[in-house]
Amino acid sequence: MLLSDKIKNTIRNIQDYPKPGITFKDITPVLADAGLVREMMQQLIKDYKGQKIDAIASTEARGFIFGSVLAYELGCPFVPVRKTGKLPYQTLSRTYNLEYGTATIEMHTDAIKPGWRVLVHDDLLATGGTAVATAELIQEAGGIVAGFSFIINLSFLPGEKNLEDHFGVKPHYLA
Ligand code: PRP
Repeated sequence: MLLSDKIKNTIRNIQDYPKPGITFKDITPVLADAGLVREMMQQLIKDYKGQKIDAIASTEARGFIFGSVLAYELGCPFVPVRKTGKLPYQTLSRTYNLEYGTATIEMHTDAIKPGWRVLVHDDLLATGGTAVATAELIQEAGGIVAGFSFIINLSFLPGEKNLEDHFGVKPHYLA
């Protein structure tokens, strides 16, 4: 079976969570399948090894899970982008619209050195609001957005188009 089908078949759909009308993509069954996680990580490493990536930036909480492993495997720094009030040092921040509600995310002002090529990684691409805001934080810090990596893309939502429109790059996703 294709890796993309294995991922799609393993993710659990939760109807009306966290709000009526939203179908939440629960990745915990993926995390429970160590063989699948290994296969996903091996694919991601293959896709990015050898590319010039100076850091991986991921948004809490679910973005941290695979983003930190990818940074470890590529031997580059991991930049945590966190929800408001969680980072202790000086921060840059962005407020944006989510699929459900709004959110503010922050990044430490010294997390990225000017000129670094930074890959944005998150578990899921929905509207693209989180990824756009994360990429804007990278650019504000003087970094270059090297690309966008996701585990799953919700293709019925405009995330992929949003990223292409804003940054001129096609996001990469496993499923
Ligand atoms: C989810 C997901 C992405 C974001 C994608 O995070 O992990 O970060 O939404 O949505 P978007 O493309 O519409 O911006 P969530 O805010 O649910 O937080 P969590 O990872 O802490 O559960």
